[in-house]
Amino acid sequence: MTKSDHHDRLVDAARKARARAYSPYSRVKIGAAVLTSDGEVYAGCNIENASYGLSCCAERTAIFKAVSEGARKIVAIAVVGSSEEFTSPCGACRQVMVEFNPAMKVLRRGIDGYSEDTTAGALLPGHFKPAELSKK
Ligand code: THU
Repeated sequence: MTKSDHHDRLVDAARKARARAYSPYSRVKIGAAVLTSDGEVYAGCNIENASYGLSCCAERTAIFKAVSEGARKIVAIAVVGSSEEFTSPCGACRQVMVEFNPAMKVLRRGIDGYSEDTTAGALLPGHFKPAELSKK
């Protein structure tokens, strides 16, 4: 499979996951899908809660599904939102992305095919790093 086939597959999985969004409060539907270094794909949607702060973004749902199945390196993530233009991952999701690979490709897609690609590291310059944990 070529890189572009992998990317098409990811975007398709994110679009399908978007349809499964549980967002009765915001009504915003977001889908995400990650590609692991083993070639596995895991998809996720946003999941809201009546206690709003407990809601989880699509990106973290997909990443946590992959990691809980044993993945440790994620090479790409596709995000499909409700707007015509691309949806950009929130700050919390960016920090979770860099944990599993700052070079992770981030494929942002609008519902009508608009696209913009970047990396997790580029989206979060100066991010908090594990090395900080040893500085007491
Ligand atoms: N949301 C995501 O799923 N991903 C993002 O990158 C930003 C926001 C969700 C969370 C919530 O369910 C809804 O969009 C509105 O904030």
